[in-house]
Amino acid sequence: MRVRVLGSAAGGGLPQWNCNCPNCQGARTGRLQPRTQSSLAVEGDGGRWVLFNASPDILAQIAAFPGLWPREGLRDTGIAAIVLIDAQIDHTTGLFLLREGAPLEVHCTERVREDLTHGNPVFRVLEHYCGVRWHRVPIDGSPFQVAGASALRFTAVPLRSNAPPFSPQRDRPLPGDNIGVRVEDRRSGKNLFYAPGLGAMEPHLEPYLASADCLLLDGTFWTDDEMIRLGISDKRAQDIGHLPQAGPGGMMELLMRYPQARKILIHINNTNPILDEASPERAQLTARGIEVAWDGMEIEL
Ligand code: MLT
Ligand code: MN
Ligand code: ZN
Repeated sequence: MRVRVLGSAAGGGLPQWNCNCPNCQGARTGRLQPRTQSSLAVEGDGGRWVLFNASPDILAQIAAFPGLWPREGLRDTGIAAIVLIDAQIDHTTGLFLLREGAPLEVHCTERVREDLTHGNPVFRVLEHYCGVRWHRVPIDGSPFQVAGASALRFTAVPLRSNAPPFSPQRDRPLPGDNIGVRVEDRRSGKNLFYAPGLGAMEPHLEPYLASADCLLLDGTFWTDDEMIRLGISDKRAQDIGHLPQAGPGGMMELLMRYPQARKILIHINNTNPILDEASPERAQLTARGIEVAWDGMEIEL
């Protein structure tokens, strides 16, 4: 299985347009590597790709990766289908930017479809352009297929997280608002577990984490009060559905329980000190064998 990180940042990207924090300043001056918003591509049949999420940076992400370019005829795409892991702006508004083509093959849960039909009616707006062919992602542990990726098997698990701010379910999340996805390759027998919005460890996740060859997990925040301390928000990481890396019960501690897996953090907020390769926080990750995803990173499984 070939996996390509299209965008490794959380909502806002790095630098965020209006942010003057040390990381965003560093990304403007070249001290830090810039990052686009959260998206992944997994290679399917005939060199076409299944995208996880459609970020508002999708056009730049396509431009930067020839695998997604048109090849045959006047209009074409290397994108076979799109799997959405939640309905958040950073994961879905890139769909608008694909409106010039054929109907979009979009896989998501019923909850996400609901929020993209009402709270932020992306699907309804797209009916006036290319249209969306919705495929229901089950959250009962049964696997699903994506047309154009016949060697891959996908399984979604619901994550205790939060629904987007525009959702009627905000602060009253339901199963399916946010998912993690296992992607198995029938050829290599290897599997990836991808969960950029993992808000808490839950017992039903254990078998997925314990059997993964690669864990690509929530790297949003270093501490729970990161945004409060910077004075930019009154929200804690866990209020918006992200498990911070540091401290007891944090992501670093969790990852250490799975020695079999390659461990990579993704969906990193621009406030997170791990983005600075010279930071002591980054050194703590490196010492534990935990990697930080970057735009263009490739993973072979
Ligand atoms: C999140 O996952 O919480 C988002 O990145 C927030 C946002 O897009 O504003
Ligand atoms: Mn996000
Ligand atoms: Zn910033």
